[in-house]
Amino acid sequence: MFNKIDLPYAYDALEPYIDKETINIHYNKHLQTYVTNLNKILEGHEDFTNGKSLGRILSDTESIPEGIRQGVINQGGGVFNHNLYFSVLSPTPKKAPEGELLDEINKTFGNLENLKTEISNAAIGQFGSGYGFLVKDKDGKLSVTSVLNQNNPLSNGFIPILCIDVWEHAYYLKYQNLRADYVKNIWNVIDWGKVEGLYMNFSI
Ligand SMILES: [Fe+2]
Repeated sequence: MFNKIDLPYAYDALEPYIDKETINIHYNKHLQTYVTNLNKILEGHEDFTNGKSLGRILSDTESIPEGIRQGVINQGGGVFNHNLYFSVLSPTPKKAPEGELLDEINKTFGNLENLKTEISNAAIGQFGSGYGFLVKDKDGKLSVTSVLNQNNPLSNGFIPILCIDVWEHAYYLKYQNLRADYVKNIWNVIDWGKVEGLYMNFSI
């Protein structure tokens, strides 16, 4: 059984940048639906899941039984991506990265502002529903990417350490069609301490 993370803040804690009702519906309805659907699809496939983490499953999609493969990619991606999304947000965020992550950002993007612009552009420019991601490769090298729907960079060999959900359900109640305003504001609640932790320690 896979599950959603425990939300590490109150529903209204990210206001005014993300409103209480959006967090409530996003976490309790949208994410919960992905969790319910994923567990339902995987019923009877315990020989396949066999204690594997969701990240491990999504990093090797060819190994997923063909009859449930696309369902696991969609619903499993929905669980993984949302768990990452909610976990890197905070009402008391660390405003900038330090240490090895900062060094790598400066090396790859010049500075933090350039990186934020690049992720923002990837997220805003994603046609239709999807995410903007900051990912690392197996050597720790950073890159920015976007994905459609609930696809996941793990399936292409990258480890995601930050994502911005740009499905309309992530922002429509407060921002309506103004995706760029939502993306601009979300940087106020992205916790670079969490991203640092994932950069240094996250493995599937
Ligand atoms: Fe979402």
